[in-house]
Amino acid sequence: MEDILPQDMWVWRRIEDVARKQLESYGYREIRTPILEETRLFTRAIGEATDIVSKEMYTFTDRKGRQLTLRPEGTAPIARAYVEHSMDKISPIAMLYYIGSMFRSERPQKGRSRQFHQIGVEIIGTTLPVADINVIIQLRNMLKSFGLRDFIIKLNSLGCSKDKDAFAEKLCGYLRDKEKLLCEDCRVRVKKNVLRVLDCKNENCKKVLSKAPNIGDSLCGMCNKHFKEVKDMLEKLQIEFEEAKNLVRGLDYYTGTVFEVTHPALGSQDAIGAGGRYDNLVKEFGGPDVGAVGYALGIERIIMALGKIEEQIPKTVFIATMGYEPKIMGLQLAEEIRKKLKGITVFTDVKGSSLKSQFRNADRNGARVVIIIGEDELKSKKTTIRDMKSREQVSVGMDTVINEIEKRLGE
Ligand code: HAM
Repeated sequence: MEDILPQDMWVWRRIEDVARKQLESYGYREIRTPILEETRLFTRAIGEATDIVSKEMYTFTDRKGRQLTLRPEGTAPIARAYVEHSMDKISPIAMLYYIGSMFRSERPQKGRSRQFHQIGVEIIGTTLPVADINVIIQLRNMLKSFGLRDFIIKLNSLGCSKDKDAFAEKLCGYLRDKEKLLCEDCRVRVKKNVLRVLDCKNENCKKVLSKAPNIGDSLCGMCNKHFKEVKDMLEKLQIEFEEAKNLVRGLDYYTGTVFEVTHPALGSQDAIGAGGRYDNLVKEFGGPDVGAVGYALGIERIIMALGKIEEQIPKTVFIATMGYEPKIMGLQLAEEIRKKLKGITVFTDVKGSSLKSQFRNADRNGARVVIIIGEDELKSKKTTIRDMKSREQVSVGMDTVINEIEKRLGE
């Protein structure tokens, strides 16, 4: 779990601000669910045999003996909230988004941490392909607004529960006489959650699977039609994607369309985000029988994929003061500048330092100009303005100082 330090916060803020604006322009509304949930919520939704539930959850018993878990993802809590607050009665379609921390006790490596942050969306209340498209278009446009290029959207369909079960049987049949060739983990997966074998990165397993049946080729008529429509709409809307017939996901609630967004700058953990349909989850939680689709992006991975970007430092003014009355004057002037000139950062001295050290502080905080107020300035109702680049100083009347600052910062 990592600290996010002040010097890095601006990138996070920029991503979150762009995301919020963009998501709201598509009609999504923000939701915040608790960081802790009852463990069984995740066990039921994500599945006992998945890596997340079997190995990665931070689970503990509280003082009253309740089993609780730090949320490893946001979809199950939102489906729970949807049911708990009868959101289907409020509107036929719930379009929700969230930004927050998730927790998975994985082995930390580049692009993988134990506390990480997701931006996610969920549309609950429809099984139509147009909802899948809505989610994918918004995702693609948001990544572009962050300044990301070269990402790849990989798309597949897992089919309905029946298709998934039938395919699992087919895959087990294919692997029956090949188990010895699989890695240890995959031998367990064959027994507990065979679809996960398709996701294994082990070279031997990949070789065995190169001739395995494809899940995307095993869909029933309805699921085939849905998937065809999704692909057709994406093509007509000129949204680039790659069909990945063996793409499966690490969470059991998915049915139908699934997708993953990868970026070449990320190395082995190359998924910036992923999502898909989970048409049975709300019903399984005791809610109405409604379809749902969504995705989540990892903010740490977006930042990694963006690489080095220039920070845009806000225009900054420092008010340097010497003496008791000048300090009060400085505080008043700072308030006036903040009120009149929007988007400007104004610092005042809070240390009682020498003028030289106040200049140094102004420099460290990126101030372009310093306003100096001392006893002399107070008497003459004037201030001195110092340009931090050229180090030139000019005397300006107290009544025109804000105009002068505006002019200089605008240059
Ligand atoms: P997920 O694929 O488990 O899906 O996670 C989505 C994204 O979260 C990943 O693609 C990755 O960028 C990021 N992520 C996951 N684990 C870590 C980690 N340990 N460190 C850093 N980043 C990580 C879900 O969570 C689903 N709830 C997505 C969804 C929403 N499906 C439907 N609606």
